[in-house]
Amino acid sequence: MVLAMESLNRLLHCWILLISLLLVVNGQFPTTLEGPFKPVTVPVNYSIIGPVTSLPVNDNPPLSPEIEFQPQQISLSLSSDLSSVWVSWITGEYQIGDDIEPLDPQSVASVVQYGVYKSGRNNLAAGSSFIYSQQYPNEDPNNYTSGIIHRVLVTGLDPDTMYEYQCGDPSIPAMSEVHYFRTMPSPPKDYPSRVAVVGGLGLTYNTSTTISHMAANHPDLALLVGDLSFADLYCTNGTLCDFQNCSFPQSPLQETYQPRWDHWGR
Ligand SMILES: *[C@@H]1O[C@H](CO)[C@@H](O)[C@H](O)[C@H]1NC(C)=O
Ligand SMILES: *[C@@H]1O[C@H](CO)[C@@H](O)[C@H](O)[C@H]1NC(C)=O
Ligand SMILES: *[C@@H]1O[C@H](CO)[C@@H](O)[C@H](O)[C@H]1NC(C)=O
Ligand SMILES: *[C@@H]1O[C@H](CO)[C@@H](O)[C@H](O)[C@H]1NC(C)=O
Ligand SMILES: *[C@@H]1O[C@H](CO)[C@@H](O)[C@H](O)[C@H]1NC(C)=O
Repeated sequence: MVLAMESLNRLLHCWILLISLLLVVNGQFPTTLEGPFKPVTVPVNYSIIGPVTSLPVNDNPPLSPEIEFQPQQISLSLSSDLSSVWVSWITGEYQIGDDIEPLDPQSVASVVQYGVYKSGRNNLAAGSSFIYSQQYPNEDPNNYTSGIIHRVLVTGLDPDTMYEYQCGDPSIPAMSEVHYFRTMPSPPKDYPSRVAVVGGLGLTYNTSTTISHMAANHPDLALLVGDLSFADLYCTNGTLCDFQNCSFPQSPLQETYQPRWDHWGR
């Protein structure tokens, strides 16, 4: 309960943020370069915040890719070095249940083909892959093993430059669509002027709306400050369980329902 309330509070903060982002666009606020300014806080408009319902993942199976082992859940993240970017994705399906055989992470390559926008994807970076398994107490048949998680560090990038890329395994071939990203500008001369901060997104009927609002404001950088799927609020059979009030003292393991992670972006 405490956690649920906390996540509601986080959601409210998230709305405050989104509303202020919208204002930035509509009100033509000056950029931070013209600052410093006093922070502006927009009060929550409770009439646009209703009850938030988690997406029941068991009734909504994720869409399978057209080609087996085509990348899903592709994500980009900043590296410690501004000239490099991490590209991560998943291939294959997670498995949950009794007597499951994990996928072989070496069976699908981790390759990013990339180049400066509109000048061809002639560069190649390779990375690594792994799986993880979650073993539950023996009487619980719902052991879990993930799809293959791929991670590639793309290095040697120029600052403030648009790149295009595809990721996947070119030998299958099972490559993603072409996607794009812009690298961060190099300090101290310049820095990202529009930064979105979002947290406690959850996997709800409203999550896509929140992300669309954020994307519609074209942030240069999005900081995801945590609490995404709330998988730890679920029992291994996928039902919402109130673990947080310690009413399962005899449970040897903190249960979680990993498929809530696997439904992201699918
Ligand atoms: C709150 O949201 C509702 C619905 O969008 C809108 O009609 C109302 O004007 C808003 N109130 C304020 C104070 O912005
Ligand atoms: C779950 O995994 C554990 C550890 O590998 C194994 O001992 C157990 O038999 C598995 N349970 C099921 C139901 O597959
Ligand atoms: C959240 O999602 C529900 C279910 O789709 C919808 O009825 C509601 O209007 C949404 N809330 C907001 C604030 O968009
Ligand atoms: C799911 O598991 C929890 C914890 O073991 C149990 O209390 C609940 O009844 C189960 N729900 C279903 C639908 O099996
Ligand atoms: C804790 O969980 C139990 C069992 O679900 C429930 O009866 C009780 O009301 C909960 N306590 C609090 C403080 O939420």
